Amino acid sequence: MQQQFDYDVLVIGSGAAGLSLALQLPLDKRVAIISKRELSAGSSSRAQGGIAAVLDPTDDIQNHIQDTIEAGAKLGNNKAIRFTIENAKQSIDWLIGQQVPFTPDNDDPTGYHLTQEGGHSHRRIIHAADRTGWAVSETLLQRATEAKNISLLTHKVAVDLITNAKTDLPGNRCIGAYIMDQQTGHIDSYSAQAVVLATGGASKVYLYTSNSDGSSGDGIAMAWRAGCRIANMEFNQFHPTCLYHPKAKSFLISEAVRGEGGKLRLANGDAFMQRFDDRLELAPRDIVARAIDHEMKRSGDDCVYLDISHRGKDFIVEHFPTIYERCLTYGIDISQDPIPVVPAAHYTCGGIMTNEHGLTDIEGLYAIGETAFTGLHGANRLASNSLLECFVYAQSAARHITTTWPAEICRPVIKSWDTSKVTDSDEDVILSHNWDELRRFMWDYVGIVRTNKRLKRAQHRVDLLLGEINEFYSNYRVTSDLVELRNLALVASLIIASAQQRKESRGLHYTLDYPNTASVPRNTILTPHNYHWV
Ligand code: FAD
Ligand code: SIN
Repeated sequence: MQQQFDYDVLVIGSGAAGLSLALQLPLDKRVAIISKRELSAGSSSRAQGGIAAVLDPTDDIQNHIQDTIEAGAKLGNNKAIRFTIENAKQSIDWLIGQQVPFTPDNDDPTGYHLTQEGGHSHRRIIHAADRTGWAVSETLLQRATEAKNISLLTHKVAVDLITNAKTDLPGNRCIGAYIMDQQTGHIDSYSAQAVVLATGGASKVYLYTSNSDGSSGDGIAMAWRAGCRIANMEFNQFHPTCLYHPKAKSFLISEAVRGEGGKLRLANGDAFMQRFDDRLELAPRDIVARAIDHEMKRSGDDCVYLDISHRGKDFIVEHFPTIYERCLTYGIDISQDPIPVVPAAHYTCGGIMTNEHGLTDIEGLYAIGETAFTGLHGANRLASNSLLECFVYAQSAARHITTTWPAEICRPVIKSWDTSKVTDSDEDVILSHNWDELRRFMWDYVGIVRTNKRLKRAQHRVDLLLGEINEFYSNYRVTSDLVELRNLALVASLIIASAQQRKESRGLHYTLDYPNTASVPRNTILTPHNYHWV
């Protein structure tokens, strides 16, 4: 039996963004946080390096702003950058208030150890050893569990948003979402005064990724289907250093390893970053990932190597306990041996267009965290600016929801999900086949180096897949695999369409057909019925 559940605020996603927003809402609001897997299954709990913020008195907000603009290849929105960075300290103070156990350092004037990452002109990354995300997630989950107004609901998959367009009510407003309960298979309706997409990124669209399986761009796809604009999807960030080992699935070797002196080397031991950028290993990610890709293609080797062994075992174990332990399980002692590494899809810089309050084009619908496009990252995200964006915009959105709360709210009766025309599928092999095919051609044709021809090929493939998947969706009962594949294919088509529109190379979008950077930076904004440049 399908049911309707009514809440004040529905938060889809239990990562850093969703949890911190929910915790900053007034206690008289009934909040549901839903996650399609376990509560800590997203990217947040995997974050290693830390959170960027100007905390050191010798650093300056203007430096962080400048570094963000430079890393973003001058495409970032100055207003969004300033807003985020000016609010960074306040967000860190809030996290400290929630008792996140950041690594202390009595010799540092801030009382905390600040590490360094690529593209930053100062040490400004506050962290909890090399498991910052885990420390933040565990702490915020604990607080959310204690909060009497918050219900934490797992294994529930948001399938689509519900807007007034699907009811007799006037206006363009989001009033809830259809959510599949993975235990019963039922698709229930959830109504809410405010709906928050905090669904993370879409890096699973690529064959090799540092992300967990759930990064299928569900929020971006749902928002697009509901009528929101989506921006800058061509800028998918590839992290330069993921562990290369047949048994290691998506394990990241933090950029902080390079920040603390790690050197990139070829198989013969030669360093190579001096041939690509004066900042060497600490150049922004797009440059380092492209340099590694170039060297791997040139040499025919399967990986390059990251060597931190000269820092000695005590330092390594203190600063990188997780990486040390994990590599050891694969027989690599990083205090003695270089680490085999390759680039992998890591972060979705584009997303659902929002304003400073996380508000999308649809009233009552907010998007925060990696799923959102705020304008902060430009053409390439600066390391450790992502968690920061989650916290700053979570706070801003929570404030906006609270201050615009109406005196009276109406609880619409939502039409049940229609299952009258579908049957159970007897051919799930189509899903797994399409899933593999999609991720492989995205890697091969829409990866670190692009061309018009490769993009055209990818567009042709994705169009065919979309047709097949949509037919499957119309005829068969919805499953979580089908939801993810449908979203992944849609997001892939948005990435390809955006990449085809950009007739230049900038930041993470590098194409052999247009190797130069245009003099005027422009965002790629796609609207559901028509694509255009602004
Ligand atoms: P996530 O944490 O990914 O959470 C998404 C949530 O949405 C999950 O709960 C998921 O289950 C849920 N969800 C998704 N779709 C649905 C659906 N259809 N229905 C229901 N629920 C759904 N950034 C930094 O700033 N510093 C770092 O050190 C850093 N290290 C990183 C290391 C790794 C290995 C990775 C992968 C990323 C790292 N990043 C880092 C990036 C950063 O962690 C992420 O951008 C950030 O955590 C995203 O948070 P989020 O809350 O937006 O999404
Ligand atoms: C890392 O630790 O290298 C990840 C940092 C980030 O993605 O910002």
